[in-house]
Amino acid sequence: MKVLITGCAGYIGSIAADLFLKAGYKVVGIDNFQTGYKQPIDILKKRYANNFIFYEKDLKSDLSEIFERNKDISSVVHYAASCVVDESMKNPYKYFANNPNSTLNLIETITKYNIKNIVFSSTCALYGEAQYVPLDENHPTNPNNVYGESKLMAEKIISWYGKIKKLNYIIFRYFNVSGATEDGVFGYSKNPSTHLTENAVRSALGIAPFYLTYQKTNTFDGSPIRDYVNVLDLDEAHLMAVEKLKNLKKEKFQEIINLGTGTGNSVLEVVKKVQELTGKKFDIKASDNPRQGEAPKLIASIKKAEKLLGWKPKRKIEDSVASLIKWYTKNPQGWEK
Ligand SMILES: NC(=O)c1ccc[n+]([C@@H]2O[C@H](COP(=O)([O-])OP(=O)(O)OC[C@H]3O[C@@H](n4cnc5c(N)ncnc54)[C@H](O)[C@@H]3O)[C@@H](O)[C@H]2O)c1
Repeated sequence: MKVLITGCAGYIGSIAADLFLKAGYKVVGIDNFQTGYKQPIDILKKRYANNFIFYEKDLKSDLSEIFERNKDISSVVHYAASCVVDESMKNPYKYFANNPNSTLNLIETITKYNIKNIVFSSTCALYGEAQYVPLDENHPTNPNNVYGESKLMAEKIISWYGKIKKLNYIIFRYFNVSGATEDGVFGYSKNPSTHLTENAVRSALGIAPFYLTYQKTNTFDGSPIRDYVNVLDLDEAHLMAVEKLKNLKKEKFQEIINLGTGTGNSVLEVVKKVQELTGKKFDIKASDNPRQGEAPKLIASIKKAEKLLGWKPKRKIEDSVASLIKWYTKNPQGWEK
């Protein structure tokens, strides 16, 4: 079976490509290297030879050649996006121009080629300020940044195509994705990063300094709790989603599903795990001025993922930390351009 993976030169998409190929799928990958890298593509080509075909292509351009040449693509897993929150607030044009438009062009093209199944990477950023926790999929959407809004726009495009063109879809809303592959071969390269676990591991390995400050808040250890889902667990959910859609007979399947751990970890817990597993200490400061709107606890309800897909995360934060130690030991600066 052949799947199309967009954004397969990026962090989550390259790990997904490896996972799908290992599971016996043929993969057609697309990326324009906006934030992706050539190295993971070269490794995938070496590992999987002709089972992996790659196109350097912008999703907003004419994609018909790819589908003409690969008429047996049966599902699309759409990871490609611009996805840095701070950047989206400085450069809204880039986010509104890329995320909804590339999704629209992709989806218009796949419906022309009669491809009926799509799995889409969305984000918990579109929920905005939490009105209750755990956040379930019925929580109101009220993004407080352009990135989240642009993903919500893409979700709406998909759901309209679902209504009109009978497209089956699974929209996954991820919480905080963390970790690398267990062999440390594929991992996260954004630098500087806003990811706590990645920054803490880099600091402990002496790659880049990181002085953690966190907002004192009303949780069991006084530091904020966030939901760190392991990247392999997350990509395994996409594999299960593709299988689910592939096995549909005539029924429709159009769902929005959160992916997280359902429990979360406090900032201090994460940092302590990093210190424990690396044997290195670094400074931690608590700030007395809580940031406006900073929620003490943001975790996902993952009941729907379990009920509809039978998915449950298998890995813990220590597994993510251990994989990141391997990854950053091999690639201190991540992939390099
Ligand atoms: N990393 C996280 O914690 C997180 C959390 C929630 C959601 N997500 C979503 O997961 C997906 C993957 O994120 P990531 O962390 O791997 O990011 P990434 O930047 O590493 O990967 C995105 C990839 O998409 C490619 N791309 C972007 N626009 C493109 C276009 N128009 N045409 C072709 N390729 C294009 C980039 O070059 C890059 O390789 C994104 O959709 C993101 O919104 C990520």
